[in-house]
Amino acid sequence: MQSSLYGAKVLVRILLAATVVGALFLTLQFSSKLPTGAIEEPAEHSANATYENKLTSSENSYKCINPYAQPGFIWMETRNTVDNTTWVPFYSGLLDEQFAQLWDAKGVPVDKIIDDTRYFPNYFPPNDLLKSAPTQWFQLMRQYKSVADTVSTEKSPDRKEASTKTLQELEQQLYWLQNRSLLVVGDSVDETLVSHLCNSFDATLEYGQTNDTSIVSCNIREWNLTVTHWQFGCVGHHCSNVAGETLESIDQKWNQYFIPTSGSVVGQNGVSPDLIIFQFGLWGEQFFVNQYRQYVHWRRLDYTRTLNYKELVVYTQLLRRTVSILRDLYGHSVPILYRTVALKNTKEQDMPALNLDSAARYACRELDVEIMDFGWLMRGYYSFYSDDVNIDNGPLSALWANMAFWYLFRSQGGVEVRGDLVKMPDTDVTTVDGWNMCHDSFMRDLKIRS
Ligand SMILES: *[C@@H]1O[C@H](CO)[C@@H](O)[C@H](O)[C@H]1NC(C)=O
Ligand SMILES: *[C@@H]1O[C@H](CO)[C@@H](O)[C@H](O)[C@H]1NC(C)=O
Ligand SMILES: *[C@@H]1O[C@H](CO)[C@@H](O)[C@H](O)[C@H]1NC(C)=O
Ligand SMILES: *[C@@H]1O[C@H](CO)[C@@H](O)[C@H](O)[C@H]1NC(C)=O
Ligand SMILES: *[C@@H]1O[C@H](CO)[C@@H](O)[C@H](O)[C@H]1NC(C)=O
Repeated sequence: MQSSLYGAKVLVRILLAATVVGALFLTLQFSSKLPTGAIEEPAEHSANATYENKLTSSENSYKCINPYAQPGFIWMETRNTVDNTTWVPFYSGLLDEQFAQLWDAKGVPVDKIIDDTRYFPNYFPPNDLLKSAPTQWFQLMRQYKSVADTVSTEKSPDRKEASTKTLQELEQQLYWLQNRSLLVVGDSVDETLVSHLCNSFDATLEYGQTNDTSIVSCNIREWNLTVTHWQFGCVGHHCSNVAGETLESIDQKWNQYFIPTSGSVVGQNGVSPDLIIFQFGLWGEQFFVNQYRQYVHWRRLDYTRTLNYKELVVYTQLLRRTVSILRDLYGHSVPILYRTVALKNTKEQDMPALNLDSAARYACRELDVEIMDFGWLMRGYYSFYSDDVNIDNGPLSALWANMAFWYLFRSQGGVEVRGDLVKMPDTDVTTVDGWNMCHDSFMRDLKIRS
């Protein structure tokens, strides 16, 4: 255990060297990007005018709006369903809503405000708010699967025809998932979310041969869509609450497992996954909490201690290194997202995880990495966890999937503005740099929120 402290020092030294190279690279990256602002260039980007006409809304120019970066709320129909779950941004409404009168002269409520809503079901939200919510890709995909199953088994010609028509409509919205590959690098929280996603499509989870990490992937055959997860952190029976990931053990995982198998994680472009989502907040927390426990010779793990500046330096260097490994593996244009930390469902608190997350937001801005702010959107929804850390199958896992596909859609050249699909991805993805259309704008909008 003493070796991990030593390892940290060595790593910092190695990283300092890497930093210089990284900084040089970043300078080049940033300077090659013109500050173009919002994209205002409608027709040129589209390879398919039919789509364009059908899907262009009243908006004539693309605006870069990330619905998941707007204030809003999670709408779910019931707490047990994955259907009808979405993030609903407050684009309008709220301030414009009028109640005739809230209370009469005697203070008796006139308008019914309180109802038995616990999870924003049924009557809520108003339809126009819901219309501008981001597309529920996950639900559309599930609908596709269920209609496709119906089409193949339906005997009545009329119903078969109706289902076939529905299927074709869905196909026109979902064709861009074909041959795509999503790589998720994280911990058991991510692995759980990935397995909920795979299970929703009856896609078999295939585990790689490892004994001290976990590599799992599934292929959703409806689109030949592959989802892969690489796991940091302790896996298996030897785990205990003092088990931790050290900087060496992270290195070992890369060298022994992830890098050697990275060649099999490629999507449409043949060289990289189409989107990478990564984070290791809770294991980062565990690392520092364990270091402190050893330092003060306690048995107990203290999750209330605030990390110091040097610890944040070590952590952000680790992030930098991770991003740089991924870019070395897959090229610098591969879209990478940092997924914000989902705090634990325990009484212990998570001060270090919050500190790390805040540092990560800063690091992402410097490293030109966008943020998938899942942790922020679902903070407080602990009753939807299946244990201390993992999220159960249900509304939150559906929200995660919707977000992941929103970003994947964008990475393929799709543009969605306030719930309207104003531009569908081009089928020839090599001609568009979909991600960069809004990337600069979103990087400028990055907020430090924790
Ligand atoms: C545009 O997309 C539609 C819908 O899939 C397709 O039928 C049509 O052939 C496409 N047109 C071109 C020019 O690619
Ligand atoms: C809720 O989900 C069901 C099943 O997917 C769907 O038929 C229904 O239209 C959805 N309701 C809303 C308001 O989206
Ligand atoms: C599935 O997608 C991958 C990645 O694009 C591709 O290499 C593979 O050939 C595809 N398989 C089929 C059966 O289309
Ligand atoms: C998917 O990959 C297969 C095999 O490489 C290819 O034949 C097919 O055209 C691809 N589909 C799309 C939509 O790119
Ligand atoms: C697990 O893998 C490590 C690293 O290759 C090896 O040293 C160890 O012996 C393996 N343990 C088992 C139980 O196979």
